Amino acid sequence: MIETPTRRVYGRRRGRPLRQGRRRLTEGLLPQLAISLPPEGALNPTTLFPTPPAAVWLEIGFGAGEHLAAQAEQHPGTGFIGCEVFENGIARLVGEIAHRDLDNIRIFADDARLLLDRLAPASIGRVFILFPDPWPKSRHHKRRLVAPATLDRLAGVMQPGAELRLATDDPGYLAWMLEHVTAHRDFVWTARSPADWRERAPDWPATRYEEKAGAAGRIPAFLRFIRRAS
Ligand SMILES: C[S@@+](CC[C@H](N)C(=O)[O-])C[C@H]1O[C@@H](n2cnc3c(N)ncnc32)[C@H](O)[C@@H]1O
Repeated sequence: MIETPTRRVYGRRRGRPLRQGRRRLTEGLLPQLAISLPPEGALNPTTLFPTPPAAVWLEIGFGAGEHLAAQAEQHPGTGFIGCEVFENGIARLVGEIAHRDLDNIRIFADDARLLLDRLAPASIGRVFILFPDPWPKSRHHKRRLVAPATLDRLAGVMQPGAELRLATDDPGYLAWMLEHVTAHRDFVWTARSPADWRERAPDWPATRYEEKAGAAGRIPAFLRFIRRAS
């Protein structure tokens, strides 16, 4: 059985107050983009979009949403769900959606694990968790998002053959990710050579956090796993 997190999100939910224009835009557009969970039963994510998309991809912790917006623009026939709890990041993505006139993104503005618990089984074709908070102190490792309970949830909602993309610039979290994901029976690591995890694939736009890490001299790793067929 999948455990229910007791305290769900540890990072901050608010930063500086939103500027008036951004706040107005967010208040105007977010209600049309936001996902609310049905009172009961599973959520079929294709129903979130005006025309059912060929596939639905999910990004957890999208930050300011630059990767999500770029993917959505490059894949107009795919539906995208972004999960984020940080209000300022959500507002930035809403701005990007309006600016690029994207109609294939929906936002879950809460703990991604609440959504994972309700998505229909095998309904997601790709998952991105890019530079999740590393929580480097040992006593905080239990806060890490990439952990057995989340992997169980992901395995449940991902289609066989679906890709899970992870990135981190924290060596301790990298070792942790590799240990936990390769130990999970439903995931297999696709890397064949060091270039496969040292270099970001061409269809993998950079995130803001990656740019900050690079500027600070930290070296990111890009991991790709496949959800096995049961
Ligand atoms: C270090 S930031 C990275 C943001 C972005 N992926 C990037 O690379 O720039 C991690 C993000 O994950 C979000 N986050 C943490 N736990 C989450 C959860 N349970 N559900 C949704 N978002 C979460 C945080 O609010 C934060 O914005």
